[in-house]
Amino acid sequence: MAVDVLLGLQWGDEGKGKIVDYLANQYDVVARFQGGPNAGHTLKINGENFVLHTIPSGIFHENVTNIIGNGVVIDPIVFKKEIEKVRALGVDTGNLMISNRAQLILPTHKQLDAASENKKGKAKIGSTLRGIGPAYMDKTGRNGLRVGDILTNNFKERYQALKLKHATLLELYGQETDITEIEKEWFEGIELLSTLNIVSAEYVINEFISEGKNVLAEGAQGTMLDIDFGTYPFVTSSNTISSSACIGLGIPPTQIREVIGITKAYCTRVGSGPFPTELTGETGDFLRQKGGEFGATTGRPRRCGWIDLPALRYSSILNGLTQLVITKIDILNEFEEIGICTEYNIDGNLTTELPYDLAERNITPVVKMLKGWNQPINQIHNYEELPMEFINLVESIENYIGVKASIISNGPHREELILKAQPEAV
Ligand code: IMP
Repeated sequence: MAVDVLLGLQWGDEGKGKIVDYLANQYDVVARFQGGPNAGHTLKINGENFVLHTIPSGIFHENVTNIIGNGVVIDPIVFKKEIEKVRALGVDTGNLMISNRAQLILPTHKQLDAASENKKGKAKIGSTLRGIGPAYMDKTGRNGLRVGDILTNNFKERYQALKLKHATLLELYGQETDITEIEKEWFEGIELLSTLNIVSAEYVINEFISEGKNVLAEGAQGTMLDIDFGTYPFVTSSNTISSSACIGLGIPPTQIREVIGITKAYCTRVGSGPFPTELTGETGDFLRQKGGEFGATTGRPRRCGWIDLPALRYSSILNGLTQLVITKIDILNEFEEIGICTEYNIDGNLTTELPYDLAERNITPVVKMLKGWNQPINQIHNYEELPMEFINLVESIENYIGVKASIISNGPHREELILKAQPEAV
């Protein structure tokens, strides 16, 4: 077996990009299996931040094949810009393949996203407005256009037919559909896409696996944003959990080896929806400033709070977690005390289970305060040399969810990593 899945355990933005970038050299293939340009995976390249939205985070590694799987939705405009930025760094994108089954985001999908959010008023989800939801709706509604369709003779007609459908819907929302400018850009993106490696990725990836090659499936968003198991309706429109890697790439479940889950040492959420451990006062502001907690895709300030262990355990169960990666622990360097939520108080009852209607409930987190280490630890690479308080926090998390941490990220730079126990299978 040779497929490892790496994904977020919280509400996204766990720092997956840096970890994939670090692990990528140990794999032959890095593949994205869901989501779209609502994601923003930030890597440090030559000391500069580089944000990837659609392209897998292995793109900067020459010997790694990068695959955008069938489960992904692609916006040709965003994608073209991304390809151009990557190429401007001298990177050859010849190592990128795109599934012919991946769905396309149309300009009118973005308009529908905005119209739907506007209509929701106060109940809005806080969508990134990248057209993700409407594109997945067209996929399940069996109306969608796929990447492979670009190469067919009647692509333009099919595009027009879908656009017309969207125009009817937009009319119901009371919106006009003047997309002349953006449509031009979109077709330029389509032209670029048509020059790339469009493949039946499920064959390619299974062939790689049968040759004994190692595949890293890279998740986007996070488990608490999963369409089925997240804080519905404040979720994204794809399944973000480990089993989604099978669907989004055409890999059988029997091929999954390790499931590597990423959590921050605290918690953030962007957009609306329940967030039991949110800190709205000074502590939350401090976490936001220290952690640079502003959306990589939209620039929106992220809501911040203490780590939520019941939610983390839920994620661990759903994903079949085998390895934990803790990121941004250095952001807690200056804290005298660090909170960990161990239980919820829901209407006077203590529980460690997330109710299905979390969004409707009045939840007070039960927070245990641990002593902080209150000193910089970014230069320490050896786990045993870390302060006792630091180890206590890590062990509290590990013991609660019953999975050991393999890597701890203690700074934004590539080399700022503590390898606690080298992942066995990698
Ligand atoms: P959508 O997927 O853009 O429709 O957004 C739905 C919800 O998921 C919103 O609350 C977004 O803020 C959130 N979301 C979507 N993608 C990401 C991500 O990559 N990181 C964090 N939150 C995200």
